[in-house]
Amino acid sequence: MADRDPQPTPATAGQPSHGEHVAIARNGGVQFRRAGTHDAGPVAALHADSWRRNYRGAYADTFLDGDVVTERLAFWTARLREQPADRFAIVAEEAGSLVGFAYSILDENPTWGAYLDNLHVAHTHQRQGIGTRLMALTAEAVIEQRPSSGLSLWVLEQNVRAQRFYEARGGRRVGRDRLHPPGGDPSRLRGEVYKLRYAWPDPATLLITG
Ligand SMILES: CC(C)(COP(=O)(O)OP(=O)(O)OC[C@H]1O[C@@H](n2cnc3c(N)ncnc32)[C@H](O)[C@@H]1OP(=O)(O)O)[C@@H](O)C(=O)NCCC(=O)NCCS
Repeated sequence: MADRDPQPTPATAGQPSHGEHVAIARNGGVQFRRAGTHDAGPVAALHADSWRRNYRGAYADTFLDGDVVTERLAFWTARLREQPADRFAIVAEEAGSLVGFAYSILDENPTWGAYLDNLHVAHTHQRQGIGTRLMALTAEAVIEQRPSSGLSLWVLEQNVRAQRFYEARGGRRVGRDRLHPPGGDPSRLRGEVYKLRYAWPDPATLLITG
């Protein structure tokens, strides 16, 4: 992992800034902060692009090549408008451009605790340590707000690359289930699609130290 900043800013990921431009960490030229309503457009664009590149085969081509950007924009505009205390979004920016984001929900599951709902890094910026840092900041916020909580996420069964990434970060595969289609519209999926749950009973294992 390219942790080019040997002394990252002490993280305060557990203290919501609701998108004020306050850095909670730095990784070379990449700055991490809490997301706000104004981030909906860039987050939606990155999310749609990431789905187009990585979810083809699971999501229907008609959806990916059609209204996915519009659908994601409506989704993120609504999601970032209200940020309840049990949800938080962290974005990564370089020179003012969004290069990654993570969105999490506390207390989502009675067994596995907090839920990392979205983690995406721009294809131009992968393998630079941004995903690892987003996971570490997520873990830090979870630990700060719910000290005894675990952390888990779902990943598409076909998304082997992301599974390897989670396994390399100590994630344990603990479940498999059918994927709910985006927006509840079954035509947006290619048939029956499955997802895998990865869990970190102790999110402290995801923290970056030093
Ligand atoms: C999965 C994903 C979030 C990982 O993000 P990322 O920023 O590429 O992750 P990192 O750079 O922190 O780590 C990826 C690998 O690059 C390596 N790496 C990091 N910096 C590096 C560098 N400078 N040079 C070479 N390798 C490097 C890491 O060690 C890691 O390898 P490992 O898993 O074998 O340890 C990203 O690939 C992504 O957005 N994928 C598409 C969307 C997706 O599938 N999201 C998950 C949905 S569940």
